[in-house]
Amino acid sequence: MTKPAGTIGGAWPAGNGSPRSGAAGVLSDRGGTDREHLAVLGAGWVGLVTAACFAELGHRVTVRDVSEERIGELTAGRLPFYEPGLADVVERNRARLSFTLDVGEAFSEARLIFVCVGTPSTPTGDADLSGVRRVIDELPRVAEGVTLIMKSTVPVGTGAKVRAALDARGARNVGYVSNPEFLAEGSAVHDFFNPQRILIGSFDSRGAERVGELYGAIPAPIRHMDVASAEMTKYASNAFLATKISFVNEIANVCEQTGADVVTVAEAMGLDCRIGPHFLQAGIGYGGSCFPKDVAALKQLAGNSGYHFQLLTAVIEVNDLQKRRVVTRLREHLGPLAGKTVALLGLAFKPNTDDLREASSLVLASRLLAEGADVRAWDPVAIESARELLDGVELCDDVLDAVAGADAAVIVTEWEELRQLPLETVRDLMRRPLVLDGRNFLDPNEVRGAGIDYEAIGRPAVRAPVARALELQVS
Ligand code: UGA
Repeated sequence: MTKPAGTIGGAWPAGNGSPRSGAAGVLSDRGGTDREHLAVLGAGWVGLVTAACFAELGHRVTVRDVSEERIGELTAGRLPFYEPGLADVVERNRARLSFTLDVGEAFSEARLIFVCVGTPSTPTGDADLSGVRRVIDELPRVAEGVTLIMKSTVPVGTGAKVRAALDARGARNVGYVSNPEFLAEGSAVHDFFNPQRILIGSFDSRGAERVGELYGAIPAPIRHMDVASAEMTKYASNAFLATKISFVNEIANVCEQTGADVVTVAEAMGLDCRIGPHFLQAGIGYGGSCFPKDVAALKQLAGNSGYHFQLLTAVIEVNDLQKRRVVTRLREHLGPLAGKTVALLGLAFKPNTDDLREASSLVLASRLLAEGADVRAWDPVAIESARELLDGVELCDDVLDAVAGADAAVIVTEWEELRQLPLETVRDLMRRPLVLDGRNFLDPNEVRGAGIDYEAIGRPAVRAPVARALELQVS
């Protein structure tokens, strides 16, 4: 099944986690502010979700980006990435959303300006703030009296630097507020309307109150604080979640040595409300545009200020090794991988997105190719994004084409589609029926019952009798 990257205009079904799916004008009656004209700088994933959802709350929003191609696509009604439900929200609010290359247009009416530019990692692990600097450099004269609201994840201290740069330009009247985003890919529209908390970091009262009012329709605790604490809360939250994942992955690795089952262990651990059930899913490591970048940036930030953040160093290392352990496990089953065919099922860093940034699939594919294996891959939405990144990998539109003739299949992303796999057909199509479930997604008994050798992460391994017989025939 192939899903479109995002065509605005009813390509996807409604019902996307927004507070109501009726007219947006009705939504603005939910106690929010009178309609504001907002601007969003940066039409990336954060910028577009923020713009569309504020439009859904009844505001007019001008979105400005420096990419001619992106603005052209958006103006023509096409979304540049896959995010469930977003195309519907954009379509419903088309009249309230405008897209432009012109920074002057963005500032012409809006007084509250969301900064949603990218802050990728530099080779040292620091955050690249050139996009933020550009915003200040491009600030038009009419900007007096506006408030810049930083949504992008920026290192602690960035707000203070921006404040100093604004003051140095004589733009003392331009306010600055830190308002980090906590949206997760794949559920961003739902997360926008149902956040766990809203942070508003400010140097003084300028703008902070108005930003708070913008979120009036959203039932979530709002925390006002200083800018540095808001910036740190964002990094600390992502680093803590990444730590939980690396922790449970290490528990999984010990489970493999001792015969315990990490799924049972994690479920029981999570019943303790001091631990909580979330982010305890063992697997082949975290990826995406946030955790790897933010954990590295926090480690670097600590190092730059003279503190060695030992725990984060381990979190990163555990995550890197977790991806590579899959190759070792395959070697244990198949011997040398040269000439063997491995199918990667799922490529995106998590389900419901076509994002491949820091995806485990990239590391796996390149390790397997380096060992001389033939690699095939399937993903329901990320195949197009994968074309440029996965040179040498055979990309398949159909999951059964990917497994046909393979010596092993690795579940890399827990796409719902994989629950419907016709297991007996898969067994018959594979040269050697072996599934390595990197997300502990499938039911071991069902897969083994179909005569497939099934291995997971941190779960006891039992060979399927049919698979053993088939393996004897193959060798
Ligand atoms: C993450 C945070 O969850 C958001 O709150 C935050 O706003 C966002 O980063 C950001 O900083 O912009 P995201 O990267 O979209 O969101 O995705 P997550 O759902 O957090 O998953 C990240 C990675 O962790 C994925 O590769 C996922 O497979 C992995 N993961 C997650 C696990 O391996 N185990 C788990 O139990 C949970």
